[in-house]
Amino acid sequence: MYRIVSIPGDGIGPEVVAGALEVLGTVAKTHGLEYSVEEHPFGGASYDLHGEMLTEDTLEACRNCDAVLLGAVGGPKWENLPHEKKPEAALLRIRKELGLFANLRPAKVYDALVDASSLKDEVVRGTDFLVFRELTGGIYFGQPRGYDENRGWNTMVYERYEVERIARLAFEAARKRTGRVMSIDKANVLEVSQFWRNVVHEVHKEYQDVELSDMYVDNAAMQIVRNPKQFDVIVTGNLFGDILSDIAGMITGSLGMLPSASIGTKHALYEPIHGSAPDIAGRNIANPIATIASLAMMFEHSFRRTDIASEIYEAIENALASGIRTADIAKPGEKSVSTTDMTNTIVRHLGA
Ligand code: NAD
Ligand code: IPM
Ligand code: MN
Repeated sequence: MYRIVSIPGDGIGPEVVAGALEVLGTVAKTHGLEYSVEEHPFGGASYDLHGEMLTEDTLEACRNCDAVLLGAVGGPKWENLPHEKKPEAALLRIRKELGLFANLRPAKVYDALVDASSLKDEVVRGTDFLVFRELTGGIYFGQPRGYDENRGWNTMVYERYEVERIARLAFEAARKRTGRVMSIDKANVLEVSQFWRNVVHEVHKEYQDVELSDMYVDNAAMQIVRNPKQFDVIVTGNLFGDILSDIAGMITGSLGMLPSASIGTKHALYEPIHGSAPDIAGRNIANPIATIASLAMMFEHSFRRTDIASEIYEAIENALASGIRTADIAKPGEKSVSTTDMTNTIVRHLGA
């Protein structure tokens, strides 16, 4: 029995989560899986109902399930709230409370979508790297933080154990891939980054079979666009990982393509890397693939069913190969389909 908690959130969150749940229902049927989905309000949607972005009830449900599926939070309606009351703060809190210190963001280019990228075919074709973004530390959580009329401040801090545990996961993953890790930092300027680099190299002593290199984050941003195929596993801090993974999104054609898994020692949460996309919300045109692929990651990491994960990825690949495109991945002037059409096409390919 898989017990899943769904927190659709705001904007396109509910639209793309509905797509993933459709796919879940389909694979459950074909594989005879028993599962439950409990939906809970989160973010602005929760605030409007209960006056709180993250209720104790939602948090408790996330603690007591096998895996959480999250859409996205945030939007103009709530952006003028005090900082600690914003939907984004609730997202950070849920990550922290569940101990989700590692955010895995795979950037893989589907052959059928090579022409959707703003980069050249030969640059993007075959791109396949995996970002390990540290998710519960760094400047997102460091104290002190705040602003007044004349000053704003945040603190970037990493503890040894925080760097060690994410580095270990990255090295372990590299062993199962092509055996290369790139650690990305800003050690030429920031002491916290020098510390990050030192600790990653210490952990590397236990993984001598893996090749470790370092790169400064500004260069990395450029290199991902210049030659994304040079990367295999990337390990980096919270803020740098956030920015670099949006760049990676564009390599694959759209932010609407990239899934993620947020993992800790006890809990796991799966979410697309994109946000609530208020500019297209409520119109049934969002790309559901990032969220459907996040469900595939759930099968891979939480349920240890790589067979089902592969089936979902294959159905996405085949749906795209059939030529169907949501607006974000369509060529200019090309006909595009709705969120539900894309979902239904993927569901049909699951049956095939
Ligand atoms: P965004 O990711 O929501 O959107 C950026 C652009 O990408 C928009 O033009 C949007 O239409 C497009 N896009 C994103 N996902 C798409 C999809 N699935 N299909 C088609 N197009 C898609 O980023 P933003 O506009 O900077 O942020 C909007 C809100 O979302 C903010 O409140 C932000 O804080 C929040 N946000 C939340 C999360 C999250 O919940 N994990 C992540 C990022 C941003
Ligand atoms: C993401 C988002 C979040 C982050 C925000 C909304 C808190 O951009 O999941 O990538 O910065 O982690
Ligand atoms: Mn982001």
